[in-house]
Amino acid sequence: MISADSHFTKAVHAYHQQDFDSALQLTEKASAVQSESLFYQQAKLFLQDVVQKKSSDVYASPEGFEAFIRGGGNIPLYTNTSAHLNQIYTEDEPSTLLDIGVGDGHALLPALSPAIKRLDCVEPSAAMLTSLGKKLEAHSLESHLHPMTWQAFRDGVSRDQTWQMIQMTFSAHTFLPEDRPELLRWCAEKGTQLVIVEFDVPVFGDMLSAEVIGYYVEKYELGLAEYRDQEIVMQRFLMPVFFGNFAHDSQRLTFEQPAANWHTEVQNAGFSTVQKVPVYDYWWGPAFLLKASQ
Ligand SMILES: C[S@@+](CC[C@H](N)C(=O)[O-])C[C@H]1O[C@@H](n2cnc3c(N)ncnc32)[C@H](O)[C@@H]1O
Repeated sequence: MISADSHFTKAVHAYHQQDFDSALQLTEKASAVQSESLFYQQAKLFLQDVVQKKSSDVYASPEGFEAFIRGGGNIPLYTNTSAHLNQIYTEDEPSTLLDIGVGDGHALLPALSPAIKRLDCVEPSAAMLTSLGKKLEAHSLESHLHPMTWQAFRDGVSRDQTWQMIQMTFSAHTFLPEDRPELLRWCAEKGTQLVIVEFDVPVFGDMLSAEVIGYYVEKYELGLAEYRDQEIVMQRFLMPVFFGNFAHDSQRLTFEQPAANWHTEVQNAGFSTVQKVPVYDYWWGPAFLLKASQ
């Protein structure tokens, strides 16, 4: 198993302090010790670029993201997610569905079943929602697209509006931990059922601790291996995302947590039955689905 050695832990600290030359030298040492590691090989290439540009502003590119999301383990991950959703729609026949943080409908669209008569989609990215809107034209259901955050949507929704099902696929973790109880309570008030799909990962406390860096290295080694022939994914998506977590000005945008914590929070919000179903053993962590009912 590839792990973060002490050289690389120091390399990440140097990167955080914007000492890119030291970060590269220390990564070269780590790579010499674990020469079979694709991770260290790719980290070296990435840092060579950073040293040359003298800047850590190496953003993940849209092309890198597109190739990432449509390849590797994302294919079975999304196939399974949509299949589980479709099974739930077919068995429970929710006639009204609200998807919060729907993106471009990558998980939702293949799952849609005739049982759903009205669909509401909340998504702050107008570009993603427009793309979803075009694809929804092929479906005969009443759809309402809301280009805004859940917070803005909540403030505008009428008191008596409810849905038979509310779902969040890989979007619940974008909410701040302090906002989550309110979001989940709102879901319990407005939805008969709630479906959440997330990854089961540890709580990341201190991002610069050897344990957290070690977890990231171990998982990214697996992730990179799924795209070993796709330079664009490795250098223009996975490596920028990896190092972005440790940049001097890095701001946390995702707040993942263990499945057991989601389970407890959903129960505390007011759902009496919460069922957990494994979805796919993804490189970053096992994906699971929580199905909660009143
Ligand atoms: C990882 S994507 C998942 C997209 C989609 N559900 C899927 O399964 O492919 C997370 C989504 O949450 C959206 N999001 C972020 N903050 C949000 C908020 N405050 N309210 C609603 N959606 C939000 C993002 O714009 C993004 O599309």
